[in-house]
Amino acid sequence: PRKIIIDTDPGQDDAVAILLALASPELEVLGITAVAGNVPLGLTQKNARIVCEVAGRPDVRVFAGCDAPMKRKLVTAEHVHGRTGLDGPELFEPTMPLQSRHAVDFIIDTLRDEPPGTVTLTTLGPLTNVATAFHRAPDIVPRVAEVVSMGGAYFEVGNITPAAEFNIYVDPEAAEIVFKSGAPVTIMPLDLTHKALVTKPRNDAFRALGTRTGTFTAEMTEFFERFDKEKYGSEGAPLHDPTVIAYLLAPDLFTGRFINVEVETTSDLTLGMTVADWWRVTNRDENATFMGDIDADGFFSLLTERLARLP
Ligand code: BDR
Ligand code: CA
Repeated sequence: PRKIIIDTDPGQDDAVAILLALASPELEVLGITAVAGNVPLGLTQKNARIVCEVAGRPDVRVFAGCDAPMKRKLVTAEHVHGRTGLDGPELFEPTMPLQSRHAVDFIIDTLRDEPPGTVTLTTLGPLTNVATAFHRAPDIVPRVAEVVSMGGAYFEVGNITPAAEFNIYVDPEAAEIVFKSGAPVTIMPLDLTHKALVTKPRNDAFRALGTRTGTFTAEMTEFFERFDKEKYGSEGAPLHDPTVIAYLLAPDLFTGRFINVEVETTSDLTLGMTVADWWRVTNRDENATFMGDIDADGFFSLLTERLARLP
């Protein structure tokens, strides 16, 4: 199996991504590293453990990482995810332990210990943990197989400000470090995730699994969906983060372009904007593959089929 670390700020869509990974034998989850983002770190690390327990996997190692962006104050998204970050289902106190090692140390140690080119970093939140690891231990960067991230946008532009996507906006300096690191970077931007909508029939399919995981997922995505329907009148909420994991399982569901992307780190107006050269109008060097299209039906059937394997 492909070895991955899941760096995350759960978040209902992060939770579904974790479930998808744990349900997939092609992937070996070496650890889950929590970061502050949708809600503060105390909640994201706890939510990650709740999700592992729902999946019947209390053996998965969960590490807590950075509690604030590299240079800025934390911005959170309770208006999308609710006060707990996982509003929707009935939540419980997880009993599996939180690992004592800091997530950044875990990322550094793992990349040094595993053979070069064998560990993929999947990031579902602000890039603080990964950028801090790259900054502190530059020797690990050439050892990374691939970084696959949910974040940014090219035409759809912003969801937290008119110009910026949430994960990049929260820690633009971190995003810049990762995108310019030289590691192979693949990005699932809003342009793509806004095509992966949890419509009512797709949500009903989660519930119809009749399992603990199916019900938990349906209750999360229903809550998440309420936000988008009311606010945007769209037929369902975008299920952003699971596209990262689906890409590892079924890359044929995705198409994109290898292009240059730069992150705005100074302007107040456009802070965190990903300036992505989709039409290759500059001769700046390509540094990331931006995915643009997804076979949404294929994605949801894969997801539902995998979730069915969990308790
Ligand atoms: C991203 O921001 C978070 O709210 C979601 O979990 C996702 O990672 C979408 O912009
Ligand atoms: Ca997230």
